[in-house]
Amino acid sequence: MASILSPLYHVYDLIQSCLGINSTFVSEQHVPGTDLTGKWIIISGSNNGVGYEAAKSFATWGANLILACREPPAWEQHPTAAVKECKDLAKAHGHSSTIEWWEINMADLNSIEIFCRRWLKADRPLDILCNNAGLAAAANNTSTMTTDGFQLVHQVNFLSHVLLTLRLLPSLARSAAPRIICTTSSLHHFGYFDLDHFNGGPKMSGNAYANNKLYFQMWVAELQSRLLKHPEYLHITINGVHPGFVASNIWNTLERRDGAGLALNFLLRYVAITPQQGSLAITNAATNPVFGPDPKKQGVGVENARGGGLYMNRIWEAPSQWHCADLDTRSRLWVKLDEELHLEEKGLLDVLGR
Ligand SMILES: NC(=O)c1ccc[n+]([C@@H]2O[C@H](COP(=O)([O-])OP(=O)(O)OC[C@H]3O[C@@H](n4cnc5c(N)ncnc54)[C@H](OP(=O)(O)O)[C@@H]3O)[C@@H](O)[C@H]2O)c1
Repeated sequence: MASILSPLYHVYDLIQSCLGINSTFVSEQHVPGTDLTGKWIIISGSNNGVGYEAAKSFATWGANLILACREPPAWEQHPTAAVKECKDLAKAHGHSSTIEWWEINMADLNSIEIFCRRWLKADRPLDILCNNAGLAAAANNTSTMTTDGFQLVHQVNFLSHVLLTLRLLPSLARSAAPRIICTTSSLHHFGYFDLDHFNGGPKMSGNAYANNKLYFQMWVAELQSRLLKHPEYLHITINGVHPGFVASNIWNTLERRDGAGLALNFLLRYVAITPQQGSLAITNAATNPVFGPDPKKQGVGVENARGGGLYMNRIWEAPSQWHCADLDTRSRLWVKLDEELHLEEKGLLDVLGR
């Protein structure tokens, strides 16, 4: 039956993916923000792009912020400049928040471990974790491998955020209504579930970027369902967001002189939204009461709240690819992650199970 329907699935996924280009202007009326004074937020990839713009909004709303960024290449904005801008905004809005750059390299698992040890040692509840850092992947799947032995996009966009989140769960659990926001993509609809080539390689189906965004969005759904089974974690809400088709630096690493590249240039110039507009997907998912915990399942939250495990196209809830609701593929993904990251051995599945 599934194979008879598969052309229809492809058309449906193509439509859902294209809906990610929606460039409707989103204003403060849609995302008014909230008082975040005293809250702690970690946001990865926040020296540039949508992460930086989200950090600026969080700073304006009074949050304490940790900008989790790498030492960037020379042509990118340095995290110290991002921290300064966030501090200036916080001050201008009457806040005396703590805003710091903590180095993290998502291409190096040891760097994640060092970052997490530092955070856990600080002994603070974590209110919001934004898993945002990411890279584009070449259409022909040429790939660089990290020193951990993973395809770069697989590790930066997905694996490292899994490790970061699982390490920080005990700290998130100490907050009253913690949220985790994962920047996925509408391109997850184009992703292939290809566990045999999870870590890339010439025989991998599809594209590394889309596949890893699919794995990420599936993992969001799987983690939420596991969190709900455990009293110490059930108040944690995790959602995936597509920020929109954003004219950010992420496109700069792609070859843009062939036909497809020229079309991309055109779309970036005339159709794409700004990083500020893209950032509203993150800030909305982090602060909108409707996308917070569902009180019936999670014991906290407003009456009409939607809870977690969702996918949002910008600020609007939208259908995720069918694999995200498929319990069998989701649990195979969970097991595969354990094999790659040795999560059980690290004690990170003690509560959530294998
Ligand atoms: N732009 C779009 O149309 C679009 C659409 C859907 C989803 N997204 C997703 O949105 C997220 C943010 O992307 P963006 O569009 O804002 O692009 P961006 O401006 O290039 O931002 C990406 C961020 O990730 C960081 N990053 C990359 N590699 C890293 C590493 N090894 N360690 C730590 N940080 C690293 C970058 O840091 P450096 O400055 O050091 O490179 C930068 O801060 C990504 O996950 C992307 O996949 C974007």
